[in-house]
Amino acid sequence: TRTIDLALIPGDGIGPEVTEQAVAVLRAALGADADLRTTEYPYSARHYLETGVILGDDDLAALAKHEVMLLGAVGGDPRDPKLAGGIIERGLLLKLRFAFDHYVNLRPTKLFPNVTSPLANPGDVDFVVVREGTEGPYVGNGGSIRVGTPAEVANEVSVNTAYGVERVVKYAFDLAEKRRKKLTLVHKTNVLVYAGSLWARAVEREAANHPSVAWDYLHVDAATIFLVTDPARFDVIVTDNLFGDILTDLAGAISGGIGLAASGNINPDGAFPSMFEPVHGSAPDIAGQRKADPTAAILSTVLLLDHLGLADAARRIEAAVTADLAERGPTARSTDEIGSAISRRLGAD
Ligand code: NAD
Ligand code: IPM
Ligand code: MN
Repeated sequence: TRTIDLALIPGDGIGPEVTEQAVAVLRAALGADADLRTTEYPYSARHYLETGVILGDDDLAALAKHEVMLLGAVGGDPRDPKLAGGIIERGLLLKLRFAFDHYVNLRPTKLFPNVTSPLANPGDVDFVVVREGTEGPYVGNGGSIRVGTPAEVANEVSVNTAYGVERVVKYAFDLAEKRRKKLTLVHKTNVLVYAGSLWARAVEREAANHPSVAWDYLHVDAATIFLVTDPARFDVIVTDNLFGDILTDLAGAISGGIGLAASGNINPDGAFPSMFEPVHGSAPDIAGQRKADPTAAILSTVLLLDHLGLADAARRIEAAVTADLAERGPTARSTDEIGSAISRRLGAD
């Protein structure tokens, strides 16, 4: 039988709570299709405070040997001055995305049957945000001078390369071709003219290779309107790293909550392991209370399985989650109760 060699990074806060359930569900879904070998890594804010190391070169080398990765969430106590400036988020999460060239940050949004959206008439919500994952304002190209004085200047430069934009745009068109053949470029070409022009030309050029895909363009501010007034209009959205971050929290909210939003940080070329994780963070406000919904982490394993070509197991988890969501009553369940209910539907005892 096939063996999946998974690197597991539970992380901080609710991260370990939700990945525990996700791994159990993954194991139950695989059954006899494949063995799951997990290797756990401690990288997290907690690990940094204990060891002084966030993620070293040897750590990256160890992770690179695995086939695929599952991450819970990282980020410690926001009041801790030792963690200021997103040192963990940048030094761990973004470092992994950059080092492993996760240029596709895949974030599907679907309103599952019987799930309540905060929108009165959401319609048939089923779209995917293809968020660029290695460039934009995330690269740390910036600096400030005269800090703390009235003359302070702070620059944060968004880096967009033709190589980086074209490859993610191509991925998005290929995906649209396999779906409902609609693609929307979201940017801010009326203000961010240099990057905007690069993105627009990349889309126009790639559109010529995908004549069956109808595409349009929205400024990011208008896109937030339509995500609330008519989210069913979207199929594939392709966008910049920062716009994609913001839009996908909104997408999570309209489709029943951030506790359901899954993502994959994908290196489509297969040169590095791809990494799957819920869209949400470590949620310090509910950590340790078993209140976190593990569904986002569980749905991230669906993306993981599809990435590995294990579509049957992926569909089994999707079906189990769909059924669990459809039957969720008004009574709140704990992280473990939701996870075990889904595992049981997959035959676990
Ligand atoms: P967050 O996503 O952790 O929490 C936002 C809100 O959503 C909170 O009220 C939280 O309780 C709720 N929430 C999140 N996940 C939930 C779940 N599974 N079930 C139920 N409710 C859930 O975002 P934040 O508060 O902005 O960030 C907290 C920390 O996490 C910060 O350090 C941030 O940098 C980090 N972060 C990490 C990741 C990641 O590791 N991928 C992603 C986002 C934020
Ligand atoms: C996400 C998170 C990260 C991001 C942070 C924690 C760096 O918000 O995965 O959406 O901005 O990409
Ligand atoms: Mn985010």
